[in-house]
This record gives sequence, C-alpha cells and structure tokens, in this order.
Amino acid sequence: MQHFLDFNQLSDSGIEALLKQVLEYSHQPADPGHRQILDGRVITNLFYEASTRTRVSFEVAAHRLGAEVINISAGGSSVEKGESLRDTLETLVSIGVDAVVVRHPQTAVLNDLVVEKDIEIALINAGDGCGHHPSQALLDAATLITARGSLVGLKLVIAGDIRHSRVARSNIQLLSRLGVDDIRLVGPKQLLPDECPQNVSLMTEDFDIALADANAVMMLRIQHERMGGLELPDTDDYHRRWGLDKARLMLAHPDCVVLHPGPVNRGVEMSNAVADGSQSLIRSQVAMGVSARMAIFDMLLASAGAGQR
Ligand code: CP
Repeated sequence: MQHFLDFNQLSDSGIEALLKQVLEYSHQPADPGHRQILDGRVITNLFYEASTRTRVSFEVAAHRLGAEVINISAGGSSVEKGESLRDTLETLVSIGVDAVVVRHPQTAVLNDLVVEKDIEIALINAGDGCGHHPSQALLDAATLITARGSLVGLKLVIAGDIRHSRVARSNIQLLSRLGVDDIRLVGPKQLLPDECPQNVSLMTEDFDIALADANAVMMLRIQHERMGGLELPDTDDYHRRWGLDKARLMLAHPDCVVLHPGPVNRGVEMSNAVADGSQSLIRSQVAMGVSARMAIFDMLLASAGAGQR
C-alpha cells in the first residue's frame, strides 16, 4: 500500500509529477469532470488535533473527485474509550475505507505504524506532532510557483517557532528537493533547532539580517501546545523582535511575498497590515490547499501510486 507521510516516499520525478498535478487542478478545481476520478471510493478524515484549513480542504478535495467522505474527531469516537490508532485504522479497513487522512499529536506516529505492520489502507499525513505536514508544503510550493512563475533564485525566510514546526520541516525537505538553495531560519533561540538543519543557509535570531534581499517570507505561529515549559518572550517583545510589520517587510526585496500556513495570531507573528496587504499570499495558500489535496488523492488512489519510490 502506498502512503503519503513525508517527501521521502517520493522520487524527484514523483514530486515533480505531483506538483504539476496540483497546478493543473488549480486552474479548474471545481470542474464536474473530476467527479469520476474517485467515484465509489471512501475517504476518512481522522483528526486527533484541531484543524480548520487542512480538514475542510481534504474534505472538499475528496468531494470534488467524487469520493464519499467520513469525518472522525478523536472526541466522540472510540478513541475516547482507549482504542489505539492501529485498531481504529483496522476497523476502517474492515468497513471498506480506501484512504485515511490522519492528524495526530505524536511525531512520526504513522511512519512507526507502517514499519511495524503493513496497513491495508492509504495513509495520508495531515500533520504529526513536530514531524511533517507534507500537504501544507506542497500547497506552499504551488502557491509560490503560481505567484512568482518559478522557484528559481528564491530566497526564503522561515520565521517564528521553527523548533516545533512540522510546516518548516516539510517545506525545507520539499523546497530543497526542488532546487531552492537559500533557505534562512529566524526566531528566538529557544524556538530554533539545536543544530542548523541540512539545506538551510542561515539560522539567526536577527530578523532584519535574515530579511536582506529575501523574496518570500513564511511566518509561523508559536505552538504553545508543544512548548513543554520553554520560557518565551512576552507578546509585545516577541512582536517587536520577530513579528512582521510593514516597516520590517521593507527590509526585504520589493517583490517579497508573505506566507503563513494559518491559523494566524494577528499582532503576534504579523500585523494586520501585512496579513491583509498586497504582498500577502495567505488566502491563495488556503485556496491552493484544495488542489494540493486533490492531487494527493489522485496520486494515491487513481494513479495507483505512480512516481513513488
Ligand atoms: N495550516 C494548517 O494546518 O491549518 P489547520 O490547523 O487549520 O488545519
């Protein structure tokens, strides 16, 4: 069974084919002709953590391809009675579900499961703890390509809580595979990784230095739910040093675009003027999320895993 857990499951040509399919769907995402692609298939969203964008866009994507969708939240399901993720997945296999989209607070929970046992259902990672969020990185790359024409020469700053960010990890993994060689990380010391990750050109606490000549900046939320007792600057101090406002954005290249995976904490990681300004791609990212998730379902369920390693 083929799964979509992180970009290690995909060859370079597989990544290119997937991205091409995202961009194709983005031209006509609601074309009624798409409804035959997954006609008769059943997809379950199984979310153990809160979500708006990811859960709803996976649901809309599945509907647009003609699949039936069942939503399960941990609260209100047999998870509350102590059922393990593995037993829940095996229950869904027996019911006849074809694919399960899973968001879970435990890092690598799906990778560990598929190593332990062959799971007879396509698993899609919708965010695992501090691990990966590959569908977010896919929609981010497609949004950047659509806005800029290509990723060639991109100088990207990722700012905020990098230490706990599955979005940062998946973007570094995907964008470096796509040839982006200038990725800079910035944030307070306690929210940066202990070591500079592979394929990152700069890691600093100084936002103004990181922004020099940048043409994309991806802002991240502080993930209070994963802090585990880390001391943080207060909100005003954080915004002053690591928040993005109009004045700071002017330190970047004039063509610089602004991304945020959401949910945005306005006044903390960015000002209203930046979130809603002409350089913001936040709404385009959300729209691209549906096309990205259609392409993932298509790859796993319609194209029988073409392009996978
Ligand atoms: N970007 C993202 O994962 O948003 P949600 O938590 O709302 O799904």
